[in-house]
Amino acid sequence: MRDHFEVRDHDAAGRIGRLEVPRAGVTVETPALLPVVNPNVLTVEPSRLRGEFGAEMLITNSYIIRSTDRIRDRVLGEGLHDFLGFDGAIMTDSGSFQLAEYGDIDVTTEEIIEFQRRIGSDVATPVDVPTPPDVDRERAERELETTERALADAEAAATGEMLVNAPVQGSTFPDLREAAGRHATTTDLDVFPVGAMVPLLNSYRYAEVVEAVRAAKRGLDPDAPVHLFGAGHPMMLALAVAAGCDLFDSAAYALMARDGRYLTVSGTEHLEEMEYFPCSCPVCAEHTPAELRKLDDDPDADASAGQLLAEHNLHVTFEELRRVKAAIRSGTLLDLVDRRARGHPAMLDGYRALLDHANELERTDPVSKDAFFYTSHESARRPEIRRHRDRLARLEVPDRLLLTESNAPSTHDYDAVWRVKPPFGPFPRALSETYPLTAEVPERLDDAAQVAAAEGVAALAEANPETAITLGHDGWPETALDAVPDRVETEDLRTLGRSE
Ligand code: GUN
Ligand code: ZN
Repeated sequence: MRDHFEVRDHDAAGRIGRLEVPRAGVTVETPALLPVVNPNVLTVEPSRLRGEFGAEMLITNSYIIRSTDRIRDRVLGEGLHDFLGFDGAIMTDSGSFQLAEYGDIDVTTEEIIEFQRRIGSDVATPVDVPTPPDVDRERAERELETTERALADAEAAATGEMLVNAPVQGSTFPDLREAAGRHATTTDLDVFPVGAMVPLLNSYRYAEVVEAVRAAKRGLDPDAPVHLFGAGHPMMLALAVAAGCDLFDSAAYALMARDGRYLTVSGTEHLEEMEYFPCSCPVCAEHTPAELRKLDDDPDADASAGQLLAEHNLHVTFEELRRVKAAIRSGTLLDLVDRRARGHPAMLDGYRALLDHANELERTDPVSKDAFFYTSHESARRPEIRRHRDRLARLEVPDRLLLTESNAPSTHDYDAVWRVKPPFGPFPRALSETYPLTAEVPERLDDAAQVAAAEGVAALAEANPETAITLGHDGWPETALDAVPDRVETEDLRTLGRSE
């Protein structure tokens, strides 16, 4: 069984885990980012990746090594770790990406798995078929069958301690992704990359990335380690982790740097257009954008602008990864996703797509964490609100119940008085010091919070058809009052002069 992966902490569907990589003799903490190392173009020396950037694992391409005469025999002779000068774990890809780009490659899964074993790979990859987005269903199904045969061939070819990837394909068909995930889980393979994401990532189609990940995860074992193949832009790490991904690999840091692009947690900037660096990594602390631009005209410079940009890009990506881990530990991952969603509209689409799956996220969301912050109307759709609503239905209620937003004590003739707090809705006062009802909400609430609270009132009324319920609300809009069942009597505390 998959005893080489252990989940330690959860937040939403994100987790901190430990992936044991026996052939490398190391345990890698996840979420992990694997810098992509092109064996022909070492943009950043792999020997620096661990100490200076914190990379515990990298990924390189065994197909490129096998088809490059100049390096193949050297890598076979000294092994991948010595060749690259990297003593962490090394994952190798198989040539599938080249297959997707050029339509054909001259190697079988059996041959490339054997080659990966011989060069000392720690995590190998079969020749899966990365079916692009938006193809017709017939093609997606046919190629998925080929991928499933590749997984079977990899199972037969794998020996010893080397872990093997089981890529999950299925293009933009969620049911095929889910079926592919379910099939991959039945193999003995070890790590589960969601594949063919690069075209979606390159065009910022983050909502569809989230849909593909969620679909794959519905098919996969909950404790399977999941890799998002080709994803490593710092802007989307928090989102992808919250959707349930554990491993990432980034060529973006180097490819973007070559085109003068500077990554940040809210997008990509062009060195050409920058006057200031907003970052404090060693590169940004030591150079201004103007100095970096001049390097390429200086034949005596130690490093090119592209190399230094690649280093910044890696620093900012690993920094975000540490921030994501800290957010998981404190239970504030969705707050971080919310902040990142404000940086780019495509990220907001991704966040909204994630919240469409709040019921799935709720299953792994911890019951208690740091205070819930209401920071946008998306907060009204977070899994904590759904959980509170489900809990409401199980609470004991008296015959005559007043639900009120007012904190002011009042004389009344109800059997009990409960608090109402948008976006959660009603709860007995005894729960007011428990998570998530300790939430910090803004004074100036939006309609989404009040509608969510009204839905909480409706859930309570539905679970308790015999209870007479009165709701004292603080000037709720029609949209919220429409969600309150007719049989609940409502009073506007503002017109009664009783709001605080
Ligand atoms: N790199 C980026 N996407 C993919 C994919 O779908 N399969 C493989 N093997 N490598 C990839
Ligand atoms: Zn920097």
